[in-house]
Amino acid sequence: MSKFIVNSSRPLRGTVKVSGSKNSALPILSACLLSGGISVIKNVPDLSDVSIMCSILSHLGCKISRDGDVITVDSSNASSVALPYELTGKIRASFIAAGALLARFKFAEIALPGGCTIGTRPVDLHLKGFSALGSEHHIKDGFVYITCPHLKGTKICLDFPSVGATQNIMLASVLASGTTIIENCASEPEIADLADFLCKCGADISGAGTDKITINGVKSLTGCEHTIIPDRIEAGTFMVAAGATGGDIRLENVISSHLTSVTSKLCEIGINCCEFADEILVRCDGERKAATVKTMPFPGFPTDMQSQIAAMLCCIEGTSLITETIFENRFMYVPELIRMNADIKVDGRTAVIKGNSSLIAAQVNATDLRASAALIIAGMAAKGKTTINNADYLKRGYEHLDTKLKSLGADVWFEE
Ligand code: UD1
Repeated sequence: MSKFIVNSSRPLRGTVKVSGSKNSALPILSACLLSGGISVIKNVPDLSDVSIMCSILSHLGCKISRDGDVITVDSSNASSVALPYELTGKIRASFIAAGALLARFKFAEIALPGGCTIGTRPVDLHLKGFSALGSEHHIKDGFVYITCPHLKGTKICLDFPSVGATQNIMLASVLASGTTIIENCASEPEIADLADFLCKCGADISGAGTDKITINGVKSLTGCEHTIIPDRIEAGTFMVAAGATGGDIRLENVISSHLTSVTSKLCEIGINCCEFADEILVRCDGERKAATVKTMPFPGFPTDMQSQIAAMLCCIEGTSLITETIFENRFMYVPELIRMNADIKVDGRTAVIKGNSSLIAAQVNATDLRASAALIIAGMAAKGKTTINNADYLKRGYEHLDTKLKSLGADVWFEE
């Protein structure tokens, strides 16, 4: 496991180009299974989670090649072989292969991915959706076996707008007979990107990006060329890092409308955000104040930005409140920030932060991907040299983070 070293930073300044979205790339790569042809996916970030998804596709018989940020997937010779825990246990998004396998081969055998540090993360909503489409499943020795000789469109109302369940049901229903309507579905930009990809392959989907998606089943799909949307969480992380260090940065390759909840919150805090269609300027030129943040499904404040904004609020005078409503265990990073002299108390799903400007560097442990980013933000704002253990988490979700932060003036590096 590598370490990430962060020295106290002067305000971040300069321009940074945001990479393609991890959470869009993973389901779209999985969706390549459906076409039985060649798909060319552009703007794919170079991340370990993406490599794992490529290994999953190779295991299923796809031919994969990578040239810079372009991945070509040929799924003509794919087959529905069992996906072992060695592959699925590494990334939760592996379960998105289920919907694609079910649609194309009428059968999927997948080791359940299990929980992770931020929560138990069950897949009951995915399985309920598959059942509604006519499938049967049973679980044995940690594997789920799903079969459906004939997927049939229907109306599905999700108990919760789960991103993964919405994606899996979309994938399972694009080749089903008749019409599938998913209500109370997730409306995250990554859902719309997946629908966009599928429509280019020949699918008939409308409403993606709202809370009701309609999918008219088609007979077959082809491969296509598609460019992944920019990563709104990477962008948000840089915005908050600028906010924490009192910086002045320009983000390129963003879709501002995907970041409205983050820009509004930063503006409320007193951080100036200027939005253009594909660019955002963030400047700290006034007094910053404490805030109340509650995570919500899109377009609410993203749970994937919760720990980063918490780290920033630790550096701002006043009492801030953070309520996490999506995952049950997303305050694992708090004891690490406390080791850096932060004043945070967690009561159930709410963290009470008494902000000040006296964070002190320490040796800390990263507990998950976004928690690692939060510790970097705290480390840049703290006095001294912070060492973050378990820094491999960062390589799962932030492309070339060390290089990008250095280009903004931060003194950071990986130590392998
Ligand atoms: C995706 C994102 C993740 C983000 C999350 C919420 C990817 C690869 N990951 O994860 O970064 O934090 O959306 O925006 O895109 N749930 C159930 N049963 C289910 C499915 C989900 O109870 O069958 C619960 C989960 O435990 C969690 C909540 O619903 O508490 C949200 O999960 P979901 O939206 O499904 O997140 P993911 O798709 O796993």
